[in-house]
Amino acid sequence: MTLLLSRKDVESVLTMEDCLAAVETAFGELARGRAVMPQRSVIRIAEHKGIFLGMPAYIGGDMNALGLKVVTVYPDNPSEHKLPTTLGTLMLCDPATGKVTAIMDAGFMTAMRTGAAGGVATKYLSREDSRSCAVFGAGVQAKKQLQAISIVRSLEKTHVIDVLPRAAEDFAQEMSKQLGIEITETDDAESAVREADIIITASSSHEPVFDGTWMKPGTHINNIGSHSPDARELDTTTVKRSKFVADLREANLAEAGDILIPIKEGAVTEEHIYASLGEIIIGQKPGRESPDEITLFKSCGLAIQDVSTALAVYKLAREKGVGTEIDL
Ligand SMILES: NC(=O)c1ccc[n+]([C@@H]2O[C@H](COP(=O)([O-])OP(=O)(O)OC[C@H]3O[C@@H](n4cnc5c(N)ncnc54)[C@H](O)[C@@H]3O)[C@@H](O)[C@H]2O)c1
Repeated sequence: MTLLLSRKDVESVLTMEDCLAAVETAFGELARGRAVMPQRSVIRIAEHKGIFLGMPAYIGGDMNALGLKVVTVYPDNPSEHKLPTTLGTLMLCDPATGKVTAIMDAGFMTAMRTGAAGGVATKYLSREDSRSCAVFGAGVQAKKQLQAISIVRSLEKTHVIDVLPRAAEDFAQEMSKQLGIEITETDDAESAVREADIIITASSSHEPVFDGTWMKPGTHINNIGSHSPDARELDTTTVKRSKFVADLREANLAEAGDILIPIKEGAVTEEHIYASLGEIIIGQKPGRESPDEITLFKSCGLAIQDVSTALAVYKLAREKGVGTEIDL
């Protein structure tokens, strides 16, 4: 039998703590060479401003997870169709037989695993005494970034900036209640960045959202939003001033305008990518080396994050008797 898990089912079993643990292990296994993950297939649906992504992965080692996520990103969905920007479905298979063990909604899971990657990067790269955040973009991904970071660091204060002031207000209200920290919406990006120990960019912007000269020494940045070669949320100054850690070097060089545009400008070379996150997790390379260093994590989003999270969801659902059995 195959377990069918709706979004509500996934939401009812998956905690950010479980997701952080799964994603950290997956990045480690990738760096150890125990995962197989082809570059994802991307289909751009230009007439609807949509992207369709096929993301398969196998994680060996102790994890033993195999699966495929199909995810779509349609920036006009919230305003035009009352749907989330990011939608997804995941098929989890038994690595021993190839049999489909579960089919699950991957919308909530995508935000959780993206938040978890940001959380893991923050744990290894940010200053331990980081207390304040500046968040650009008040959408689904930004909420999960802040949730994950609040587990690995003792946050006290956060500013949120969105081109839609209402979105920033709603974010501040919802997340301050959920996390018990002071969150204020603002349109003063410069002051927010100057004050921040950690900057999150999780917007749908294709242009830089702040000026890299504003960052103070010791800042850590989680750069989550843009993932096409001609779009970026960070300016060249930010990239040049930072120790640049990719989720995966190859994925960043295929998709991330945040590094590809500065390379094209001649401002940096490919060698500016200091490491892939997994290399730091398994101790192949040091993470933060001084309190003044500016560190930057660029996430494009990897299938290992999805498949490791899906396996955690599947095990939790089995334990708790959640989901519907179907005979495919
Ligand atoms: N790295 C990953 O693994 C990963 C995973 C999923 C989604 N994403 C990307 O993350 C981004 C956000 O996704 P979402 O689902 O939260 O979208 P969303 O539409 O829910 O939220 C995006 C927010 O950004 C705001 N925004 C746009 N331009 C801005 C600017 N210049 N300054 C501040 N705010 C601005 C929008 O008004 C909106 O509120 C998208 O680009 C998506 O493709 C990345």
